[in-house]
Amino acid sequence: MSSSQKLVVLGSINADHILTLEHFPHPGQTLTGQNYQVAFGGKGANQAVAAGRSGANISFIACVGEDDIGHRIKAQLEKDRIDTHAVSHIKDQSTGVALIFVNKMAENCIGICAGANACLSPEYVQQHADLIRAAQALLLQLETPIPSIIEAAKIAHQSSVKVVLNPAPARELPEELLHLVDIITPNETEALSLTGVIIHDEKDAAEAASVLHGKGIKTVVITMGSRGVWLSENGQGQLVSGFKVNAIDTIAAGDTFNGAFVTALLEGKSALEAARFANAAAAIAVTRSGGQPSVPWREEIDAFLATK
Ligand code: RIB
Repeated sequence: MSSSQKLVVLGSINADHILTLEHFPHPGQTLTGQNYQVAFGGKGANQAVAAGRSGANISFIACVGEDDIGHRIKAQLEKDRIDTHAVSHIKDQSTGVALIFVNKMAENCIGICAGANACLSPEYVQQHADLIRAAQALLLQLETPIPSIIEAAKIAHQSSVKVVLNPAPARELPEELLHLVDIITPNETEALSLTGVIIHDEKDAAEAASVLHGKGIKTVVITMGSRGVWLSENGQGQLVSGFKVNAIDTIAAGDTFNGAFVTALLEGKSALEAARFANAAAAIAVTRSGGQPSVPWREEIDAFLATK
């Protein structure tokens, strides 16, 4: 299945070096871990892969290094049904890297070296402006330079292309960017840094959503881990429950949600149906290890939902 509606994802590509530990090391402590693996990741690439595998008609705007892993990542993106003509190898740069610890609670902590992702400049975005203008939705995250994200959002907004922002990793954002956003999808930590509201329950989620609506954002989706998501459209909020699964690794769970959610919206599903579809995709992802290796294909999501 492939939607006729076009999606553009703009964002990061990383090589993830993942190590599983009993617990995160304390300062000064060295721990021996298990299951070391290098997997393809990066929030932008993970979301693009989630969209590609769940059936979107998708192009990706990104930068990788002029190195072996950059070439292998780009080849894999093509196998994941993504148009990569706007994914460039940057001379004298290495592909972005993420160093990731996973603990036995399936939580992770991540350190990033931007590498070629830092070269995704406003000029680079301008070179691919027509791709954005021809789309129905643009999906953005925050692992590439903010001026370029604003540039892309402006191009989209001027052409009535829906701007979807996954504000990850958490940081404060200029109002200029938030005013261009149609749909925002923070997790609880990201919602706190954008709104100042600590989210313990649905009432807090509604309050955080209302702050974001106050900035002109029509649809707010706050992801709350295994509880599911708080979906608020023009101030009308509801919890869309998550699916209970045995989680072993939550890397890329949020990315999987975002890619699948936008794909479903572009197929004409309501935000509620799209959130349920994306909750299913994320539930499958957390039962597997790694970033992109954990992202499910459409057939797997449909089969999972058919059992619910
Ligand atoms: O969201 C998960 C991603 O965050 C990882 O794949 C890692 O690359 C970091 O960007």
